[in-house]
Amino acid sequence: MPFYSDELIEEVRSANDIVDVISNYVRLTKKGGNYMGLCPFHNEKTPSFSVSQSKQMFYCFGCGAGGNVITFLMQYENDTFQEALQTLAQKAGIELPKQELSSKARREADKRARIMEINKASAKYFYAQLRMEQGKRGMQYFVNRGLSQDTLKKFGLGYSNKFSDDLYQYLRKQGYEDSILKDSGVVAIDERRGGHDKFWNRIMFPIMDANNRVIGFGGRVMGEGEPKYLNSPETPVFDKSRSLYGLHLAKSSRKPYILLCEGYMDVIALHQAGFDNAVASLGTAFTPGHANLLKRYTKEVYCTFDSDGAGIKAALRAIPILKEAGITAKIVKMKPYKDPDELIRAEGAEAYQKRIEEAQNSFLFEVEVLQQQYDMKDPESKTAFYSAVARKILEFEEELERENYIESVAQKYQVGFENLRKLVLHQGSRIGAASKSRPLKSGVQEKKKKEKENGMKQSQKLMLTWLVEDPTLFDKIKPYLGPEDFTEQLYRQAAEILFAQCQEGSLNPAGIISMFTDEEQQREIASLFNASLKEITTPQKQQKALQETIIRLKENSISYRSKHLDPADMEGLQRLVADKRNMQKLFHIKF
Ligand code: UTP
Ligand code: MN
Repeated sequence: MPFYSDELIEEVRSANDIVDVISNYVRLTKKGGNYMGLCPFHNEKTPSFSVSQSKQMFYCFGCGAGGNVITFLMQYENDTFQEALQTLAQKAGIELPKQELSSKARREADKRARIMEINKASAKYFYAQLRMEQGKRGMQYFVNRGLSQDTLKKFGLGYSNKFSDDLYQYLRKQGYEDSILKDSGVVAIDERRGGHDKFWNRIMFPIMDANNRVIGFGGRVMGEGEPKYLNSPETPVFDKSRSLYGLHLAKSSRKPYILLCEGYMDVIALHQAGFDNAVASLGTAFTPGHANLLKRYTKEVYCTFDSDGAGIKAALRAIPILKEAGITAKIVKMKPYKDPDELIRAEGAEAYQKRIEEAQNSFLFEVEVLQQQYDMKDPESKTAFYSAVARKILEFEEELERENYIESVAQKYQVGFENLRKLVLHQGSRIGAASKSRPLKSGVQEKKKKEKENGMKQSQKLMLTWLVEDPTLFDKIKPYLGPEDFTEQLYRQAAEILFAQCQEGSLNPAGIISMFTDEEQQREIASLFNASLKEITTPQKQQKALQETIIRLKENSISYRSKHLDPADMEGLQRLVADKRNMQKLFHIKF
């Protein structure tokens, strides 16, 4: 860690018992050696969130969230590493050294905290203005658009009045200097005119992060005017490509999917109509950052975009991004209305619910859009369309999936199933031949390969988990297994540290986690030490499983090293030969 020493981080971490800390946020009940609760990082009805006192780690078997006590605060409070550490140090009464406090990191953290304060103060200011005499026009606008008083409150909606610098003056009086006000984005500082407000004479939408903190604003003109929506600039607390409007509410919805829409008013109208799972990306296109954020809460997203060309484009863009993140996408049709807000105002919530139920599969949606580029009355163009669809169907790796889509497309576009199937095979062999890439594999082959990879990862996890649960195993396995036998790079790094800790007799898996600064990595490391040991119940079973696992790992490692070994690496080669020779022994050893 760049700003605090490893020892200090470790001191703070170990002074905060993970069960105590998490109990402040999640109701935990003891179950066997662990504590279980409802996961705060995804929606669930039965607890799959476990906290281990002995390992000082948490792990969710449902969504894969995991880490140590520092990671927990980072994820739950949306804190940086430094912020989480400071909170924990304070809790434990540990004083963080002065020179470290004045470091750049500390200043950054301070700045973020102060910007959040300014945002909060501004949101309150806008909120109050809306309810005063000068806010009448804003209130009228909201009422005309059908928003209830409850809704205004729930979303903290407000109004920025016609004076061009009264928010600036107000914040100055509260003690904020120009430099921090400028960084917050609610104020612009002009050399000649001095400070003035970014938003005026607009209705205001505060933007919250998943933990209910105001990170920015959107402001809409009442009536005509450009730009229609003005948004806060990006600031140290507002990263547009990772923020979704409405997520702070949608994350606790009981619905198993999320509704993704285009704008503020759509989100608000949907929530008011009872669809409490609506979110929108803000004044920016949907990004992988958004998808990763959503992945924490859901596996299925319904795109409910505008029915115009821009909305179709937005959907075509979002679909592959969602898919890449492992989220299934569906498309909700709005026609003849422009957007969800209009549809609900015209036909009500039930009609919208019906649209959800009729939502279209994202692939069929893509095909439908594709078809519009072809003249289906012209035989040549029509053939070209089928060929294009056939190429698209090849994107599916599973044979069964391809067959299912061939069936759907054949039905919808009046072409024989067998004909389309032949076309897919033909396109497959053409692409294979042209690019010299792998020929089209059968779904079964692909699936087997994937299963094997996953199985190997699982075995590596299992081994590391065992070691953490029962460090006495270390002496038994040491002669046969080393960190280099873990072929996943991240696993190997973790294994190196873990093996070294075992060697010194100072096992500390939670400490390993804080050596990785990236949240995704912390999550994966936590999963390494929390593999499911359910099936292994008796010592005999454990012994057998251990032996089998070591053999699998070793065989995999030998084959991996044979393929990747640098021919000049004599030492590596010798180890490989010795390992191969020792392989036979492994079948006879009793662990
Ligand atoms: P739309 O123009 O479709 O507006 O922009 P809307 O959401 O239907 O808004 P209302 O119903 O007229 O109030 C969709 C979204 O694109 C962003 C906003 O997030 C908006 O909600 N946008 C649009 C901007 O950021 N700036 C703009 O100038 C326009
Ligand atoms: Mn609209």
